[in-house]
Amino acid sequence: MSKTDELSFDEYDELVNPKPEENDFDRVLETAISRRELFKGVIALGSIATLGSQFFSDPAVASQTRFAFDKVDANTLDDITLPQGYSSQIVARWGDPLWSEGSSFDHDTRGTSDTQSVAFGDNIDGMEVYAHQGKNLLVVNNEYTNRKIIWGNRPDGRFETDDDVMKGKAAHGVTVVEIAQQNGEWSMVQDSPFNRRITPDTEMQITGPAAGHDLLKTADDPTGTKALGTWNNCGNGSTPWGTYLACEENFNGYFSAEDEDHIVSDELKRYGVSSKDWGYGWAKVDNRFDVAKNPNEPNRAGYIVEIDPRDPASTPKKRTALGRFKHENAEVVINNDGKIVVYMGDDERGEFLYRYVSNGVYAPGAATDELLEDGKLYVAKFHDTGAGEWLELTPESTGLADNAEICIHTRIAASAVGATTMDRPEWVTANPRAPEVYCALTNNKNRGIKPNAGGDLTPAGGPNPREGNKYGQIVRWRPDNGDHTSNGFAWDLFVLAGNPAIHDDLNAGSDNITADNMFNSPDGIKFDSNGLLYIQTDGNYSNEEDFDGHGNNQMLVGNPATGEIRRFLVGPNECEVTGLTWSADRRTMFVGIQHPGERGNSHWPEGGNAVPRSAVVAITRDDGGIVG
Ligand code: FEO
Ligand code: CA
Ligand code: CA
Repeated sequence: MSKTDELSFDEYDELVNPKPEENDFDRVLETAISRRELFKGVIALGSIATLGSQFFSDPAVASQTRFAFDKVDANTLDDITLPQGYSSQIVARWGDPLWSEGSSFDHDTRGTSDTQSVAFGDNIDGMEVYAHQGKNLLVVNNEYTNRKIIWGNRPDGRFETDDDVMKGKAAHGVTVVEIAQQNGEWSMVQDSPFNRRITPDTEMQITGPAAGHDLLKTADDPTGTKALGTWNNCGNGSTPWGTYLACEENFNGYFSAEDEDHIVSDELKRYGVSSKDWGYGWAKVDNRFDVAKNPNEPNRAGYIVEIDPRDPASTPKKRTALGRFKHENAEVVINNDGKIVVYMGDDERGEFLYRYVSNGVYAPGAATDELLEDGKLYVAKFHDTGAGEWLELTPESTGLADNAEICIHTRIAASAVGATTMDRPEWVTANPRAPEVYCALTNNKNRGIKPNAGGDLTPAGGPNPREGNKYGQIVRWRPDNGDHTSNGFAWDLFVLAGNPAIHDDLNAGSDNITADNMFNSPDGIKFDSNGLLYIQTDGNYSNEEDFDGHGNNQMLVGNPATGEIRRFLVGPNECEVTGLTWSADRRTMFVGIQHPGERGNSHWPEGGNAVPRSAVVAITRDDGGIVG
């Protein structure tokens, strides 16, 4: 081993790519912001509409901005729109071959299971670039596939053959691919030894409290420790030790039963598993997905999977200690005492927000395996006063038999302790410049109208203030004493999205929403290294009625100190903007475009009559400057 092989990812990264001392994306106001108390109070009940003016207007900063770009107007173009002085290019698209044995994407057939299995997966979501041995390794979730697009070669947009089903299955999972920049252009490095497809059939190790539990045992795996594959990975996380976390979200939609009268258990119903799948047909080619024949198989999904992109032969690990739910992303924080804290949302209407705290501490170079196997799991309770608390999930507090059951039936455990039902917790991100954490609550048509899948009531209030919430909001909290392991926190809303052009009630949004920056359904959120908050949307792109003026899905940038929000990017038609990472030198920002043309109205990125394809986009400044 060379000296550099012994360094942690961060140390190696720092060695080969020293952080720039100055950043022109972040040109002013560091002093003013560091002096300011970010939280001046909490929301007084009934005054949410005036949140912006109470909270975010700071005379010291109000006349200046930290944004080094001009706002982009909302639009409905089938293209990427960026501020002047910024350019984009395509790095990788669904169906692009990772190895030279593959073939380039066929717009007529949209490929076969063979071509797909050696190609970039579909519908990209969370992603991360890792610097390793002087190379850039891009790791991307391939969350799902649009059936009408991948099977658009069939008259009714449904699978016809077993190979059609297997093609769809192979388009799921995770793609690891080396990328390189030559003459300013990024592209995939075909045949790189680091290239890898992780699919719903890749062997995985189950670790943590639930490993080996009876509920995880199947005929194929009587040990309950070896699951096959990962699918529907939404957001992601990244550890200080250089591994990638893929987060299994809507895993339920792939199970069905040949016996359509089969009734699933109440425990599986809580996760939406039923005898009918969402049209993927996996049970037709693989009995594992027939829930009548393999009722424990769904208990082996819904976890966070740790992947080491530096070792293509490594076995991914399902980390059951982080709980089983519809994981959105995993925001990993090193607490002041070295403990690893992971914040995680469960994206379903009326589900919960979670925190994991490791028992051990992180030390660069020391073993890290236990850090995501051995710890405590908590769920959030928000009080209307602006205070909140983390409730530990234990056999005593939940009434479940042991920690293994808590890690398998995590939603049931969280309901038992009276956690706060949320408006679909999407990504969580921690400010690198302050001990504060943000979570996007995307929308919730059931708020105040219907209970969640566990029967918990969902009254409007606290961080979920609007009945039938159409627009979404971003909640943030500060752990007591700046300690991420504290069980108490103070919270407020950073923004309540809305439409001030047509509403003058709570649906106008908070005062930091204007006709110039309005949006709906915040989903992906991530801080850059300077403490600016990027907000990506996955919402209503009709540009009509309640959403008139919102245009296509987009990415905006927020300033946590002032509440200022400015639109930075607009995506092509019918897409979602999701996934965000940077090159080690921070001169390229990578953004994901998912499901362009999901309703048949896009030909992005190739134009003409091309099949629309999810793609990773590289964004640079024309002057070569830093982009976050
Ligand atoms: Fe895959 Fe919650 O979005
Ligand atoms: Ca999402
Ligand atoms: Ca989404």
